[in-house]
Amino acid sequence: MKSCRICDSPLTIFLDLGMMPRGNGFLTPDEFAHEFKFPLAAAFCASCTAVQLIEQPPAESIFHETYPFFTGSSVRMKTHFKELAGEIKVRSLADKNNPLVIEIGSNDGTLLKNFAEAGYRHLGLEPAAGAAVQARAAGVTTEIAFFNEEIASEILRTHGPADALIGANVFCHIDSIRSAAQGVKRLLNSSGAATFEDPYFIDMLEKTAYDQIYDEHVFIFSVTVLDNLFKSCGLELKDVKRIPTHGGSIRYWVGHAGSAPLRSQSVDAILREEEGQGVGQLETYQKFQEKVKTASRDLKALLEKLKNEGARLAGYAATSKSTTLLNFAGIGPELIAFISDTTDFKQGKFSPGMHIPVVSPEKFRPPYPDYVLLLAWNHVEEIMEKEKDFVKKGGRWILPVPRLEIKP
Ligand code: TYD
Repeated sequence: MKSCRICDSPLTIFLDLGMMPRGNGFLTPDEFAHEFKFPLAAAFCASCTAVQLIEQPPAESIFHETYPFFTGSSVRMKTHFKELAGEIKVRSLADKNNPLVIEIGSNDGTLLKNFAEAGYRHLGLEPAAGAAVQARAAGVTTEIAFFNEEIASEILRTHGPADALIGANVFCHIDSIRSAAQGVKRLLNSSGAATFEDPYFIDMLEKTAYDQIYDEHVFIFSVTVLDNLFKSCGLELKDVKRIPTHGGSIRYWVGHAGSAPLRSQSVDAILREEEGQGVGQLETYQKFQEKVKTASRDLKALLEKLKNEGARLAGYAATSKSTTLLNFAGIGPELIAFISDTTDFKQGKFSPGMHIPVVSPEKFRPPYPDYVLLLAWNHVEEIMEKEKDFVKKGGRWILPVPRLEIKP
């Protein structure tokens, strides 16, 4: 892909991260020799400013039956989605008679469960069959499907229009983004509201969070880009809000152009801010590239120094983000002995590319390693709270993002 997925203009690469495995490509030793890799590079479009991958492996090879991400693995994310469901009920559904709620990329049903349990008509669309099966077991009606214009038409025929359409950390995954936006246009009721959230480009810049760039995140959106995308298919951004999840995200509310409610001033305010932050200027991206290279070098140098001093090092949470972080820096099992992770699918396997063993949190017990690299830095509060004993026994956390830091 050398031209923009939104406006077809040529793309300019600003960060070449080299050959990279899939973010969630956890594997067994017999698979090492044939490990899939692809050229991971982030580019921006000088015309519409959309930040996107030059190449994304086929979606079917990422979101498959054993896709190992489960929303419910974080207690805080469960609370986050419970609150979001509450807000949607009040904001979008309060005056509706027997409304229909549809979630795109509904994963294990963590969010939709809040509607299912309250008796709302609902439907989840989830391409990863393993997660969909978990959702069904939790009482959430789920179809195994990718979202695009075609499936939107089919659902419209079988279920009718959606009063609330939701997508959390989903739109940034969709290569055929124009078809997905057209699908929203088609499926959303004339007075309906769509609510999405995705990692936010400005947070990535501000935090040098280059680990947001991996195979699944084909886009890292700014509001500037979203505004143009939705406008181009007869929709309108109604409201936007920065939220802290996934290391810094943007929540955006979308409706049909001209429908109620009126567009909030928050949209234009954030558009002005983004202009000031240089979303359309090549220099912004060049500076980011420099910061990424420095951050990656500094992280590896710190780990090598500690190792040379005799420290025992491990990783915490085998996130998909960490695949970029570890591979780009070249941090393998010679530095990080193991990564502790709560996901059954990942335990007993090895991390993509660098082949660090992934173990169950039951193995993260005394005697603890001296230093632990927190790869889920976005869940820092939840994890530090849970693992107080590690620090009590003298352990120290290494935070790679937003800036390299040892705690306490
Ligand atoms: P997340 O940052 O959502 O991952 P990603 O970068 O893949 O989007 O973190 C989810 C991963 O972190 C998942 O593999 C489970 C793991 N995890 C733990 O092991 N312990 C924890 O306490 C938390 C919150 C997550």
